[in-house]
Amino acid sequence: MNIIITGATKGIGRAIAEKFAAEGFDLALCARSENDLLATKKELSQKYPDTKILSYPVDLRHKEEVLAFASFVKEHWQDVNILVNNAGVFIPGEIQNEEDGVLEQMIETNLYSAYRLTRAILPLMHGLRKAHIFNMCSIASFFAYPNGGSYSISKFAMLGFSKVLREELKDKEIRVTALMPGATWTNSWAGSNFPEERLMKASDVALAVWGAWQMSPSAVVESIVLRPQLGDL
Ligand SMILES: NC(=O)c1ccc[n+]([C@@H]2O[C@H](COP(=O)([O-])OP(=O)(O)OC[C@H]3O[C@@H](n4cnc5c(N)ncnc54)[C@H](OP(=O)(O)O)[C@@H]3O)[C@@H](O)[C@H]2O)c1
Repeated sequence: MNIIITGATKGIGRAIAEKFAAEGFDLALCARSENDLLATKKELSQKYPDTKILSYPVDLRHKEEVLAFASFVKEHWQDVNILVNNAGVFIPGEIQNEEDGVLEQMIETNLYSAYRLTRAILPLMHGLRKAHIFNMCSIASFFAYPNGGSYSISKFAMLGFSKVLREELKDKEIRVTALMPGATWTNSWAGSNFPEERLMKASDVALAVWGAWQMSPSAVVESIVLRPQLGDL
């Protein structure tokens, strides 16, 4: 079995990579930083020597780089069991005064990357006993909150993408799950004043992904909302 994870060197993507490596999956990972990819590959290979790991540096904002990553995967794998469209950026702000270009940057990174990669990888997911696409949405996908700005717009769109895909793939034996975590301790929160234990752990989100994957092919978890026990921040 194998899994593609975008944005797999840090935070939630990294935790999902670790969980699936521990469960015996082969991994195809991408992120922009080649150094971080090499470090991730080295660390996971040492911990899980039986896991085969492909890695590819790519800036998912650019269509040609997304397609190059998909071609790289196709050179190595005939089929793909799981695709996790995780990569994303969070730039806080307000529509009325955020910098010009912020919406474009987050739509390209958080939405277009997933749309383009999914279209390129889907042919490798047809006809398998079990195939699954996870789309990283957010609680920002279903309500607006202070300083959500264009991030929230991109995540509303990501949920729309996930819902459309779910309908299209219903009779194709490919499950689609929208992941909607609240505050999860990752780099994005490192500069904040909140104590780490107030937030969820990235490994909690990885466990939810694993749980959804494990169900029988006749069941799909369409969406997963996860929040810190004490609620939103
Ligand atoms: N943390 C939260 O509270 C939270 C809550 C809800 C949803 N989410 C969502 O969960 C996902 C992961 O968030 P995170 O907090 O784990 O983020 P993170 O710790 O900042 O990690 C982001 C990952 O994505 C990669 N990445 C970013 N931009 C990229 C690009 N243009 N091309 C390729 N790779 C790129 C990063 O590597 P490079 O920098 O090397 O490219 C890194 O591996 C995002 O979609 C985010 O919106 C997070």
